[in-house]
Amino acid sequence: MSTSGIVYRPRRLRTTPRMRRLVAEHRLHAADLVLPLFVKEGLDEPAPISSMPGQVQHTESTLRDAVAATARAGLGGVMLFGIPALRDATGSQAEAPDGILQRGIRIAREAIAAVELQTGRPGPVVMADTCLDEFTDHGHCGVLTDGPDGETVVDNDATLERYAAMAVAQARAGAEVVSPSGMMDGQVAVIRDALDDAGFEHVAILAYSAKYASPFYGPFREAVDSALTGDRRTYQMDAANGREGLREADLDLAEGADMVMVKPAGSYLDVLRGVADRSDVPVAAYQVSGEYAMIEAASANGWIDRRASILESVLSIRRAGADVILTYWALEVAEWLRTSA
Ligand code: PBG
Repeated sequence: MSTSGIVYRPRRLRTTPRMRRLVAEHRLHAADLVLPLFVKEGLDEPAPISSMPGQVQHTESTLRDAVAATARAGLGGVMLFGIPALRDATGSQAEAPDGILQRGIRIAREAIAAVELQTGRPGPVVMADTCLDEFTDHGHCGVLTDGPDGETVVDNDATLERYAAMAVAQARAGAEVVSPSGMMDGQVAVIRDALDDAGFEHVAILAYSAKYASPFYGPFREAVDSALTGDRRTYQMDAANGREGLREADLDLAEGADMVMVKPAGSYLDVLRGVADRSDVPVAAYQVSGEYAMIEAASANGWIDRRASILESVLSIRRAGADVILTYWALEVAEWLRTSA
């Protein structure tokens, strides 16, 4: 033993940037990142989302450009959300063959195919949000009915029929992954059956398995012009419950989910770790709009270092067990990774 008496000196592995790079346990890669994108029917110009600085509601034409950029950047996927011109009680535009989300999916597939032809590299996987809240005039994730005490509630089983039709419409338009995010019981099994019956055995399901009712979706509500009054606490999960999040993931795995997701990410890293430990399919996490907005706002005030904060927040999601990370910073992070390696 040396005269200092100190045997273990973990600081040796932190000495230089070279050494730190060598021993890093986790790394980010563009191919693991998925960029969420919004396309709005009837827009002439992209519309900035004020609570998400740097993000916009796309026109069909700027969606094409944005998806092409993700393909050139080597991202793993895009997650598409549609904002229809017309909303009704059952969200019928969600399953219309020419509804805005179906149009967005076709545009994304075309844009990716064009870039793949130029670069010879695989482009992002096209994923679609499979949920009614953007399409209903009341803003809930399903169709409404009267509850046991005469209150208005979302009708689980009637909603499942709408999700099945919506998933098939998305698959017909070219979605490679459908992503039920409405937290209805049984949604994965019903969608799997419907896809298989319609000949889409090859279309995968990314289940938003442990999705918590969260104020961190606040800016997203602006992003999709949400009509919601009230909250989603009768279907999205309670922040108090970690074990229940694992159960939700188990149920989705048993129903045939090809990937499972935890959402939001940052406040639920424990749930993410738990799901990653028991899942034998890839695990995704969604760094949501409010997580984005908080770091953007603090950075804009000069209170935190923007780039370092973004990278740490995304890397923490990876460390907690996510294989796939949905983040509004996907393009920017990919660019940083490309230029700093
Ligand atoms: C439901 C859906 C929501 C988000 C993704 N899918 C909104 C909600 O559940 O209220 C939120 C994403 C975000 O906040 O970035 N279609």
